[in-house]
Amino acid sequence: MCGIVGFVGRGPAAAPILDGLKRLEYRGYDSAGIATLERGLLTRRRAVGKLKNLESMLACEPLVGRIGIGHTRWATHGRPNETNAHPHAVDGVAVVHNGIIENHRELREELNRSGARFATETDTEVIAHLVSQQLKKGREPVAAVRAALPRLEGAFALAFLFEGYGDLIIGARKGSPLAVGYGEGEMYLGSDAIALAPLTDTINYLEDGDVTVITRQGIAFFNAKGEQLRRLPAKIAGSTVLVHKGEHRHFMIKEIHEQPRVVGLTLAQYVDAATGTIKMPKDVELEFRDINRVSITACGTAFYAGLIARYWFERYAGLPVEIDVASEFRYRSVPFDPGNLAIFVSQSGETADTLASLEFAKAHGQRALAVVNVASSTMARASQIVLPTLAGPEVGVASTKAFTSQLATLACLAVAAGRARGVLSADDEVALVRALADVPSYMMRALELEPKIRQLARKMARSRDVLFIGRGTNYPLALEGALKLKEITYIHAEGYAAGELKHGPIALIDKDVPVVVIAPGDMMFEKTMSNMHEVIAREGRTILLTDRKGAALASPGAWMTLVLPDMPPLVAPLAFAVPLQLLAYHTALVLGTDVDQPRNLAKSVTVE
Ligand code: F6R
Repeated sequence: MCGIVGFVGRGPAAAPILDGLKRLEYRGYDSAGIATLERGLLTRRRAVGKLKNLESMLACEPLVGRIGIGHTRWATHGRPNETNAHPHAVDGVAVVHNGIIENHRELREELNRSGARFATETDTEVIAHLVSQQLKKGREPVAAVRAALPRLEGAFALAFLFEGYGDLIIGARKGSPLAVGYGEGEMYLGSDAIALAPLTDTINYLEDGDVTVITRQGIAFFNAKGEQLRRLPAKIAGSTVLVHKGEHRHFMIKEIHEQPRVVGLTLAQYVDAATGTIKMPKDVELEFRDINRVSITACGTAFYAGLIARYWFERYAGLPVEIDVASEFRYRSVPFDPGNLAIFVSQSGETADTLASLEFAKAHGQRALAVVNVASSTMARASQIVLPTLAGPEVGVASTKAFTSQLATLACLAVAAGRARGVLSADDEVALVRALADVPSYMMRALELEPKIRQLARKMARSRDVLFIGRGTNYPLALEGALKLKEITYIHAEGYAAGELKHGPIALIDKDVPVVVIAPGDMMFEKTMSNMHEVIAREGRTILLTDRKGAALASPGAWMTLVLPDMPPLVAPLAFAVPLQLLAYHTALVLGTDVDQPRNLAKSVTVE
């Protein structure tokens, strides 16, 4: 989290830095700041809250320097106030940081003992002090940064600016992403290529351990020993315009409505509807023949996509699946069989825990396959096989279209695995491909439930707690429905396997706790209905989300029933996700919360 931008050029730096920060606001939005050099001296502007506050401040008090660094923050250490906002400046050194310095307490004590005085509560300020200490020993800026970096434990992407050095930005990376961009007589630095897209399409990514030295005329890369590295810039196909909401009030609702199209695009990449076959890169098919299990690792919503895929790999490919959230997986003593496949699912491709799990799995002889939305991300670059999702830029912090595009990709992968392993026949494949090809139209039908969901949201907004239950793939979907609701409405919500309710959570049920029951008319329907009636018997209010078959079979009693068309079980989670997203969105609208940028969250989680 946190976004970094740097600019050195011929014109004022503040405007392109602010524009780059706007593209990075998804990484954090609790405060922001920019530092430039004016007549050789550091000048800063910092503001609490969203970037528009910094923008207003700059309109009244402009910055004119032609070199600068900027930051949009997601607080880790220290409250989100102006003092703790980056850039931090100590004795002519300014620094912006994305990541966490884990040994900051020890460093702070050590620096205090040697006379340093701290102005902020942040971990980042120790970095400025360490570099300043090196400068005082007579080192030049590059040598000072190189001497300070080995003292830092944890993850960082850093950019430095030095008083008296009007043609120098230094960048460094360990764990957190950082890119540089090339212009004519001006150069740039940013947390990702999207931040730099309006400025340049010529980009280079820092590798872990790299230090980069940026001047108006060029960019050099060095390793930890100070040896110069040869790094060839690459052209990227980036979008140069900020994505807009169009006629929609929020990005989230725009992205919900985009799903039939982007899921269709993603599917078109992996299915050949004419022949009724799945199209996967050749090595993917070979991969599945020789393995005896797959692991799936991800965080948050992407993890729930993985949980749904587990049911598919087991059912359609007879393949055992080991699945965990990345923050646990990376620290477990997993007994790996060398040569197996490890799947990583991520929208951003930058999530710190998922990336660390990827490296962990590779170090244990696993082949890494990434299902990612950002094709230029660190995760895509670190994986042996990449299956892009074509959701397009997802701006709303709550993941919607990325989730269903991940499901589309994973469903195709599971069918490909089933064919490669001989579990599915050619006829089975044709039937499943036909089902997949119909997903966009099922999603359109699901969107038609919006007026009814708007009414339901008015009632839902009065609740303090909401439960979501389901069986089979509807269990992870229940987890996802609860996550969507809690993250944008701040209503407490939990997802449970429907059969688990009676093992504890049923104690929560009373007339004030709505329970969303996700139950298409599949082979688990009757069992889930029994669980629904256990809730009704305890005065619980149930919202039944089902298909036509389920609606016809269900005995009365539900508070409200939302009905989708009948569809094959493989594709049901993709369409059933839509009403859950709409329910969270419309409930948030009633409550007036910040839908696209909910409190305390950020879109790309690049810290542990
Ligand atoms: C929830 C949400 C998060 C992300 C999670 C992983 O709506 O968006 O739970 O799914 O932070 O992020 P990625 O997919 O970028 O690895």
